[in-house]
Amino acid sequence: MRKNIVAGNWKMNTTVPEGVQLADDLVNLLKGTKANCDVVICTPFTHLCAVAAILEGSPVCLGAENCARHDKGAYTGEVSAAMVRSTGADYVILGHSERRQYFGENNEELSEKLRLALDNGLRPIFCVGEVLEQREDGSFNEVVAGQLEPLFNLPVDDFKKVIIAYEPVWAIGTGKTATADQAEDMHAFIRKQVEEKFGKQVAEATSILYGGSCKPGNARELFAKPDVDGGLIGGAALKAADFMGIIEAFS
Ligand code: 13P
Repeated sequence: MRKNIVAGNWKMNTTVPEGVQLADDLVNLLKGTKANCDVVICTPFTHLCAVAAILEGSPVCLGAENCARHDKGAYTGEVSAAMVRSTGADYVILGHSERRQYFGENNEELSEKLRLALDNGLRPIFCVGEVLEQREDGSFNEVVAGQLEPLFNLPVDDFKKVIIAYEPVWAIGTGKTATADQAEDMHAFIRKQVEEKFGKQVAEATSILYGGSCKPGNARELFAKPDVDGGLIGGAALKAADFMGIIEAFS
């Protein structure tokens, strides 16, 4: 069966020493407990090596927040999938709404990034989600179906490595969480899309995470829904105790 996953997205927060401390605090909180889900933290590129050393021997996995669309060469300031992989990271977030919104990422670019991530042994956490206007005008299913397209061009064995995160943009960092029913409806819709493309068995094995103002206080209700397989956590991943509270929602 599919895995439950709680993943943190630190975004552009913490210096390296602060990030090392945060990772260390989390590892210490998890010591002696048995998490009932996979735990991943996705950090800025600058933190990956130092945080990888902290996570060694712990159950927490490491990921990056992005990777370049090119494999190497004269792209000053970019960080390739191979570079990310060489830090010890196993995951990479792709297509986060902030990257779509502020950096113009589209399906074509995301297809290239997916290819490079997978070719370099990284598991993509692929984000989709509508903006408020699309929620209000009722076009949200259609929007999300369009955003899923780069995944549906993958060979099935590659698709099986992908984790999908549904993050309604209106819920990100706003304190306005989607209701558990809204999340469930969209997750079930996404799973149906996967089923139509890759079949029921693959759809049932795909982890679909919810993101957007997920906190210890609302995680349990969201994760109780049959198609919500965990969370992609922003703000609440920046405090080890809060992140731990969300992990404990799977108990
Ligand atoms: P918040 O949890 O801060 O709303 O952010 C969600 C998110 O964007 C995770 O990728």
